[in-house]
Amino acid sequence: MNISLIVAASENNAIGKNNELLWRLPNDMKFFKNTTWAMPVIMGRKTFDSLAGEPLPGRYNIVVTRNHIDLAGCLNAELSFSPEEALLKAKEKDCKEVFIAGGQQIYNAFLPVATKIYITRVHAVLDGDAFFPAIDTTKWKKVYQLDFAADEKHAYPYSFQTWVKA
Ligand SMILES: NC(=O)c1ccc[n+]([C@@H]2O[C@H](COP(=O)([O-])OP(=O)(O)OC[C@H]3O[C@@H](n4cnc5c(N)ncnc54)[C@H](OP(=O)(O)O)[C@@H]3O)[C@@H](O)[C@H]2O)c1
Repeated sequence: MNISLIVAASENNAIGKNNELLWRLPNDMKFFKNTTWAMPVIMGRKTFDSLAGEPLPGRYNIVVTRNHIDLAGCLNAELSFSPEEALLKAKEKDCKEVFIAGGQQIYNAFLPVATKIYITRVHAVLDGDAFFPAIDTTKWKKVYQLDFAADEKHAYPYSFQTWVKA
């Protein structure tokens, strides 16, 4: 099973502030949905909170926490009490890929075992309180990039990039 990080990050690697995203980029939301659809998605409890208690539809949500939070009524979500347990739960789904959907703590926990990074690089330097780790270019190789200009729906230019472990 491939372990893939999926993230949108500014030039200075900011990914969020006050438990919210720093932008609204509809094309990135579509990319995230299309890429992760029907797959297991692992996220930290704070990122899950930012979804307002609604798991991502059409995906099997695995929420990593050290506490017993209430997921009653969430049919497609389950708790895990460590990153390792989350990976075991994803493997049980027998999928070719599991997506690590943040936030900062969870990206840091999974980066050492990840084999692919889908990053939407937002071409702006922004103020955040949550960050994606710097991609070590001696260990990772960029294999794909597609660039978009800012427009009326996207406040910043952005690029879809794929990185694989070198
Ligand atoms: N731009 C993007 O692509 C993107 C994507 C996702 C999130 N974000 C942003 O990232 C920010 C949130 O990131 P964050 O780092 O504050 O929180 P987070 O990684 O989403 O969640 C942190 C929580 O995960 C649990 N956790 C972490 N490590 C654990 C471990 N080893 N074992 C068990 N549980 C563990 C803990 O939950 P408990 O406290 O419940 O124990 C911890 O408080 C928000 O601003 C969000 O908007 C951005």
